[in-house]
Amino acid sequence: MIVGILNGPNLNLLGTREPAIYGTATLDDILTHLSGVAASLGVELRTAQANGEGQLIDILHGWRTEVRGVVVNAGAYTHTSLALRDAFTATALPFVEVHLSNIHAREPERRHSVLASASIGMVCGLGADGYEYALRGLVRALASRRS
Ligand code: DQA
Repeated sequence: MIVGILNGPNLNLLGTREPAIYGTATLDDILTHLSGVAASLGVELRTAQANGEGQLIDILHGWRTEVRGVVVNAGAYTHTSLALRDAFTATALPFVEVHLSNIHAREPERRHSVLASASIGMVCGLGADGYEYALRGLVRALASRRS
């Protein structure tokens, strides 16, 4: 089974971007850790990061027939992008949302996710570890859908 890990705007700057909020792990650090977790779960990963909304949508379209589900941190598009949610529903790709910070404890404009209603679930506020929990949760959900 192949699973996608999709990261949105500004997440390429993890490690140096507002470390008090997002921690000091880089995106590479997170993806390296996830590849070990994926191997232990017997799944293969596709990974992508893009800063543009249209680029993220194009990536999902490209993954439509390749991946079984997606772990996504859509960055600020989480709070605004109906187009990205539509891309998930249009491709019928199940997904788990992840956020490093606890978006519910931040500024009011960050407390709502427009993606969440279409998601399997969300992990937030647990820092870089949240990506592992999101991947484990997604793989378990996909396995139970199959059986
Ligand atoms: C984020 C939270 C978003 O509000 C923010 O725009 C990000 C990162 C997080 O991982 O905590 O870019 O998704």
